[in-house]
Amino acid sequence: MCGIIGYVGTGKTADILMRSLKLLEYRGYDSSGVAFCCGKNTEIYKCTDRVSVLEKKIQGRAEGSHCAIGHTRWATHGSVSEKNAHPHRSGRVTLVHNGIIENYKELIQLYHLKEKLVSTGDSEVAAALIDRFYDDDPLKAIREASKQIRGTYALVMMFEGREDEIFAVCKVSPIVIAQNEEGRILASDLSALTGTYENYFVLPEDTIVRLSMDDLCLYDLSGKKKAPYWKKMEQQDRALDKKGHPYYMEKEIFEQGTALRNTLEPRIREGLPDFSADGIEGELFASHHHIVICACGTSYHAGLLAKRVFESFGRIKCDVFLSSEFIYEKPFMEKDALIIVISQSGETIDSLQALKIAKEEGHETLAIVNVRDSSIARNADYVLYTHAGMEIAVASTKAYTSQLSLLYLLAYRFALCEQERKEKVMEKIRELKKVPDAIEAACRDKERYAGLAGILKDEKDLYMIGRGRDYPLLMEAALKMKEISYIHCEAYAAGELKHGPIALIEKDTPVIACISQEDLLGKAASNIKEVRARGARVYAFVRESLAKQLDMKIEVFPLKDLEDELMPFSAIAAFQLLAYYTALEKGVDVDKPRNLAKVVTVE
Ligand code: G6P
Repeated sequence: MCGIIGYVGTGKTADILMRSLKLLEYRGYDSSGVAFCCGKNTEIYKCTDRVSVLEKKIQGRAEGSHCAIGHTRWATHGSVSEKNAHPHRSGRVTLVHNGIIENYKELIQLYHLKEKLVSTGDSEVAAALIDRFYDDDPLKAIREASKQIRGTYALVMMFEGREDEIFAVCKVSPIVIAQNEEGRILASDLSALTGTYENYFVLPEDTIVRLSMDDLCLYDLSGKKKAPYWKKMEQQDRALDKKGHPYYMEKEIFEQGTALRNTLEPRIREGLPDFSADGIEGELFASHHHIVICACGTSYHAGLLAKRVFESFGRIKCDVFLSSEFIYEKPFMEKDALIIVISQSGETIDSLQALKIAKEEGHETLAIVNVRDSSIARNADYVLYTHAGMEIAVASTKAYTSQLSLLYLLAYRFALCEQERKEKVMEKIRELKKVPDAIEAACRDKERYAGLAGILKDEKDLYMIGRGRDYPLLMEAALKMKEISYIHCEAYAAGELKHGPIALIEKDTPVIACISQEDLLGKAASNIKEVRARGARVYAFVRESLAKQLDMKIEVFPLKDLEDELMPFSAIAAFQLLAYYTALEKGVDVDKPRNLAKVVTVE
């Protein structure tokens, strides 16, 4: 949450900052702001709007500046207002912050900072505290402040009287840094490093960095110099081009076939799953007899579905936890449990904490992430990258199906630990390879879902019912609907209807039923009859080959045929499109739904 950027160099500072802020906007978009170092002065511009509005505001300003910091905010402490927007200036310090300063109230009291503050958040307190310690030695001031601050932070600062210099320090919240002949840049993540950078490094925790026109220095908190650990920058897929789609979400739904092929193909050798190119050999699978998955949001839903494949086909016990609850549940885990953390961004703080706890308890950890070198990827023992390409829309689509495909492949790999299952696994892989085509075929039916979206757009409540694998799948479908169309939408296991939810059904209540599993047709059809008998208006999303058998006068949306276990892939494509077109009908900003952010770096 919150994106930060800093630049020192001879390039066009304002352009570089704006480009990077646009790339960081997916982390939060409540407000944005920049501060330019202009000789002895600092010019600050803020707005409670998107970066494109800020861009207009700064046009023709700060043209000679060679040094600046910027921020795009997701409000945690304090309302969305210009005074709460970053950068904050306190005395001689100008600062941007990502994270949460937990003890900010204590710090205000302890250091009598109240009079210095104009905002109502925690971040300005950091600026005021650093200013309190500042006597022309920025490193000392940052060191002193870091000892007092409790919480998570990435702080980037400029100091009055120190032209063209940027300082930064971090704890948990990440900062990446790169340089080329023109200058030096730092940001919350690699996606924002526009320009030709060959190498980068991740700022270690409790390390201060100073960037200037001609060099870059790192210091630990005792003031000793440190060397950066440079890594090679991989080709970045910045994907800012919407390629003719009105929103990134539509583009990303349509990219799913390619994302899945890119994720699966390098891990299939001679018709069998093979993770050796990821540094994962056969022992890993043989030495674990329990899987514990931790994840949030859409990634959690991928975990819920995967559990069924791990257990039914992989024949390995699997438990799935919301990362935010894992800490409190204190689940029993076998000594040899493998902890799998799933995260598109690789930065979700709750998932990162779950991973760290599991490691502290001595468990091996495996991360499934989409963003290279993200915090979760760096902290896990093993990493499997989904090769979905950058996902920009807040509502996750191609990352979800890519995660799911990798999880299926892992389950198939676990199945190989048992004798004589090679043929069966090969058969499964042959079927899995058909998934990208099925998703693409579902996308070609988009008009059908757009039509239904027109009918559903004004609903207040919408229910989704299904059994077996369709239930966790519908949890994801309902989340998509909530996130971007703001319609209250709940998924229920159809067998549970009679234990409560059916009380909500009255005349004309919209219900979506999903029937993708052959053996569940009969029971699922009975549930449809039950809600119809109470007046519900039912739309049935039914596997193409089963549709004819559903002998009812209701509107049916056929789902592309795949084998039972894989049906969630073709079904989710349909539900993603339905949510997307419903949001479009409502005229909301599909890619940036209210109150949400793509990267959740606060608990
Ligand atoms: C946020 C995003 C969701 C995402 C969830 C988990 O809520 O808006 O799209 O599913 O975080 O994120 P992760 O990056 O860990 O998968």
